[in-house]
Amino acid sequence: MTAQRIDGNALARVTREQVRAEVATLKARGLTPGLAVLLVGDDPASQVYVRHKVADSAEVGIHSLLERLPAHTTQAELLARIEQLNADRSIHGILVQLPLPKHIDAQRVIETIAPHKDVDGFHVANAGALAVGRPGFKPCTPYGCMKMLEHIGYSLRGKHAVVVGRSNIVGKPMAWMLLQASATVTVCHSATAQLATVVRQADVIVAATGIRNLITADMVAPGAVVIDVGMNRDDAGKLCGDVDFATVQYKAGWITPVPGGVGPMTRAMLLVNTLEAAQAAAT
Ligand code: GUN
Repeated sequence: MTAQRIDGNALARVTREQVRAEVATLKARGLTPGLAVLLVGDDPASQVYVRHKVADSAEVGIHSLLERLPAHTTQAELLARIEQLNADRSIHGILVQLPLPKHIDAQRVIETIAPHKDVDGFHVANAGALAVGRPGFKPCTPYGCMKMLEHIGYSLRGKHAVVVGRSNIVGKPMAWMLLQASATVTVCHSATAQLATVVRQADVIVAATGIRNLITADMVAPGAVVIDVGMNRDDAGKLCGDVDFATVQYKAGWITPVPGGVGPMTRAMLLVNTLEAAQAAAT
């Protein structure tokens, strides 16, 4: 049996089309959604990510403002710029690309963004809202994973979902979303004993560790849904995930490829959140 692939590119394209139509409606009412993207320093991966975010915004008609700040920018300078953007009525979403240089406290920066402009969903107000099942911005990567599960018509109710990774960006919010969808959720991490034994019990596996080929075919129950959040490079420099795709594709029921899986959906959900931020400002 070969797993069915979940095509993130195709689903992201459809999502962008939907956003584009709603942006057009807002524009007809005189409101152009605006997204500010702040990049501090010159991390090469971050450069690529922000370029994509700006290009995606342009494609759907969202006005974007890319600000590149030098690596030596002080925390005070960055916070002051965020305060200005918080007060800027033409900007509905503010995103500070992570990671930040070591001399800057990332959590402090995130908490300076007005929660209603926090389109990454990283502010404690949005993280807390997600935890208690109240409306708020959802982090784009796990939000995109949920959309992919929805797209294949997968019912999470009563299923065992195993999340591997416990970051604030992916693992933790992913667990809250799966729980909200009535899955039984296990979160594994670097200190988990018997990782393979736990993962083997999963109906759904979400791998978000940054460790190439961590999830091997022997860890996957036949027919399981495998969502690969990893963004790693193999020895040849080619993009690959946390899942050993070559073998797992013959064991899983559904699988997301890397590239072309979670990545494009993450980008699409940022547009969804930015649209939502602008719509909230319009009412
Ligand atoms: N760095 C890696 N992923 C993300 C993300 O989703 N948002 C931001 N701002 N930075 C990131």
